[in-house]
Amino acid sequence: MEDQLIYLDNAATVWPKPENVYRFMDEFFRTKGVNPGRSGYDLAIEAGSLLDRTRKRLTKFFGGDEDTPERLVFGYNVTDALNLAIPGLVGSGDHIITTNLEHNSVIRPVNHMVRDRGAEATYIPFNADGFVDADAIRNAIRPNTKFIIVNHGSNVIGTIQPVREIGAISREHGLTFIVDTAQTAGVVPINMKEMNIDVLAFTGHKALMGSMGVGGLCIRKHVEIKQVRSGGTGVRSAYPYHLEEFPWRLEYGTPNMIGVASLWAGQDWLDEHGVENVHRQEMALAKRLVDGLRKIDGVRLYCCDSMENHLSTVLMNLEGVDPGDVGVMLDVDHNIATRTGLHCAPLVHRQLGIESTHGGVRFSVGAFNTTAHIDAAVAAVSDIAKWARERKTKAERIPAKALN
Ligand SMILES: Cc1ncc(COP(=O)(O)O)c(C=O)c1O
Repeated sequence: MEDQLIYLDNAATVWPKPENVYRFMDEFFRTKGVNPGRSGYDLAIEAGSLLDRTRKRLTKFFGGDEDTPERLVFGYNVTDALNLAIPGLVGSGDHIITTNLEHNSVIRPVNHMVRDRGAEATYIPFNADGFVDADAIRNAIRPNTKFIIVNHGSNVIGTIQPVREIGAISREHGLTFIVDTAQTAGVVPINMKEMNIDVLAFTGHKALMGSMGVGGLCIRKHVEIKQVRSGGTGVRSAYPYHLEEFPWRLEYGTPNMIGVASLWAGQDWLDEHGVENVHRQEMALAKRLVDGLRKIDGVRLYCCDSMENHLSTVLMNLEGVDPGDVGVMLDVDHNIATRTGLHCAPLVHRQLGIESTHGGVRFSVGAFNTTAHIDAAVAAVSDIAKWARERKTKAERIPAKALN
């Protein structure tokens, strides 16, 4: 067994983070860790300046409207952001189109809108390769459809959805298009204007290379979205209601400035290394993993016959072994961290027919993995598969009467 943990759970959170991110967060917290935008002394202004500069930088990074950077609002993570966007956009009787690829951070708020606010929702299945067909979305549009919400990159099977085509359809029909970029922000280039994305939800702790506890929305300037919470904003304190102006409309209380600092430093790292270069390197490792796993007797892979339009996330199962047990053996016997089960996206497993058998084993490759990690993972699965075959053979040899 390796002494060092082999971390292949980057779809849950990218880890470790680049050194410059740790250093910048530490330095910012020590030297400028005051409340931004609430006071006029120099340090508060410096902290506020980082907040504003990060809004601008991320708006540019996502191809949003650079003249309205205040429409990039920070929250705690993508779940929090989606819980601002979805109720902020849905009214009673509105129809929502979404997909079977969604994370619970979309499924649950959408289902609450259906149960609690009288909305309707249509879930579009994915095809055998793991992609949602843009025409299926077009065909689901009704007169009362309000918005389309799609997971850009599946956190379970790794497929990247055709958001450009879906965005064009959404624009044609005058709908609002929301994209959950939890798995793609910092992995593939995104341009909201070119892709007709109206609202982009992001989380800081994955490939944006930031910390946990920060995420947000980037909202195009034509989008009308209601405020859903209220509280302190640091400005116009005598006004008895929450402010209408952005960013305050969707920001509440003291922001996670250490998280914002981490996103700033994450951008530095992405600028230096290049989003496409990092993705290319991760995909080379993911292909090596798929090629290795494919050769193992008993391994079943899902939606990765082609690794085109794919993230470096790979879902597999081993015949005759519960995925949870595979995960435990990878962890305990081989020091390899993966994630097993339903990955907070149960409709994917339901459609693949593996929900009742406890889902699958997910390997997710990150920027700091190496070929040695991949080879160790393949060797470990090969070992577990051998053990499973031997166990099966032994069980078959036990005379039936011994089992009675
Ligand atoms: C596609 C997708 N959406 C939403 C989330 C939720 O992210 P967070 O926990 O940062 O809110 C995840 C996390 O894995 C995800 O993969």
